[in-house]
Amino acid sequence: MPPRDLLIEHLHNLQDRHGGLYPAHLSALAAEFRLSLSEVMETASFYAHFRLLKDGEAAPSAVVRVCGSPSCVLRGAEQLKATIPGAVDAPCLGLCDHAPAALVSRVPVREATVESVMAALMVTPPPPRSSQSPSPLWGGVGVGDRPRDAILAELEASGLRGMGGAGFPVARKWRTVAAQPGPRLVVVNADEGEPGTFKDRHFLDTAMDRVLDGALAAAWAIEAEAIYIYLRDEYPDLHDTLDAAIAALPPGTVPVHLRRGAGAYVCGEESALIESLEGKRGLPRQRPPYVAEVGLFGRPTLVNNVETLYWVSRILEDGAESFAKHGRNGQKGLRSYSVSGRVKIPGVKIAPNGVTITELIEEFCGGMEDGHHLAAYLPGGASGGFLPAHLQPPLAFGCIEEHGGFIGSAAVIVLSQADDLRAVALNLARFFAHESCGQCTPCRVGTARAAEILEQPHWDKPLLDDLSHVMRQASICGLGQAAPNVWQSLLRHFPEVTA
Ligand SMILES: Cc1cc2nc3c(=O)[nH]c(=O)nc-3n(C[C@H](O)[C@H](O)[C@H](O)COP(=O)(O)O)c2cc1C
Ligand code: SF4
Repeated sequence: MPPRDLLIEHLHNLQDRHGGLYPAHLSALAAEFRLSLSEVMETASFYAHFRLLKDGEAAPSAVVRVCGSPSCVLRGAEQLKATIPGAVDAPCLGLCDHAPAALVSRVPVREATVESVMAALMVTPPPPRSSQSPSPLWGGVGVGDRPRDAILAELEASGLRGMGGAGFPVARKWRTVAAQPGPRLVVVNADEGEPGTFKDRHFLDTAMDRVLDGALAAAWAIEAEAIYIYLRDEYPDLHDTLDAAIAALPPGTVPVHLRRGAGAYVCGEESALIESLEGKRGLPRQRPPYVAEVGLFGRPTLVNNVETLYWVSRILEDGAESFAKHGRNGQKGLRSYSVSGRVKIPGVKIAPNGVTITELIEEFCGGMEDGHHLAAYLPGGASGGFLPAHLQPPLAFGCIEEHGGFIGSAAVIVLSQADDLRAVALNLARFFAHESCGQCTPCRVGTARAAEILEQPHWDKPLLDDLSHVMRQASICGLGQAAPNVWQSLLRHFPEVTA
């Protein structure tokens, strides 16, 4: 009997082969895993990427997903989707610097047009690339001859904080997990679902060895017995490369398991991710994963973001000082900013932590697009709220909260006088309503109700205030707690737009 945590992998394998999941597939999996049919159904129906088909129903030969996130909509994604028969809307595909983006079965299409999407429908997906050139780092920054305490001290001195969104100090988290009784596990969070974020794709594409190296260093430092990498299903090209890179790790390396997500934003939240890794629906839990009862397989679990592990590898090789000496406007260190929208050169920018929006646009993005001036920006994707151009806080953890937002994963979406802020807000409210896992009422009902209100010409401010209050106080996870930033920040900073 295969372990339950392989259920989602099996669902993927069947769908890859048959184009969808038929009732007989689900029954066979129930028998194989010794689960009830309803348990298998529950998992399969939770995830947007699984296609449940009826007996005799034809499976589609290809699926065209057109990205519906703000940066792609600014570049005509809705018109593109309307002209491609059968195309479906997808939450952010993580290609915001190449908007509008599409995913044609397993082939990402950048700067998509009807012609390029049709051309992608004709091609067979390319074979997996071979592993990136083996680097001397493979095996984890001299793992074995670097004392664990020295690793933790170096990370502490660097001031590195988690880049997945919450900004938790890395060394403190590692120490907390290491202090729990073993066996322990490391999980690499490569779910990258925040609209506007595409840095993890960038780091896996350009520095996969570093990311693996950081994960191996984490496993060494906390004495973990295995590493699990949870990669979003929207990155099939990276899945193949990562698979090959893991296979190329030297014998004796701690086991590394690669798992695919299946199209659920909430699974980026660490406890939902753990549920998903266990083969279940991605429902967030109430406690942090380093507590054994809620860690993966009931073991204390260290969850880190891809970018965090990239910086771990850099810091352990170059030293804490080489990282900490950077920084601007009172902040320390380096970080990535995923910049998209109305700038001349969008992309992942490695910049001093704490740059302002104007510094980021002018020094790293070639300035605003011709004919556009900065009107507003989202510093942290869908969750981080809107800021007006005149507010220029350091783009860093803890610096945006007083304005009703946060930096999160630094998905900076730049908007100009030509953009309809209400339309962007409605897009994001619908995104949250779609992605709420439904487990708690304030979030399930609040996101749906807010999206309805935002569709109206006149926004009912008292009702939005009430909804926001309840959602922030009573939602289990960060999705329901942060969703109100969308409309509350617009009400606060752009009264002329929301009146
Ligand atoms: C709704 C929601 C979605 C999230 N999505 C991601 C994600 O896609 N990737 C990620 O690394 N962290 C995500 N997080 C943050 C994780 O819960 C967790 O804090 C992070 O993976 C820890 O890694 P770090 O300390 O290296 O940042 C999300 C959090 C919430 C509330
Ligand atoms: S806040 Fe929303 S996404 Fe999070 S657990 Fe509750 S219903 Fe699910």
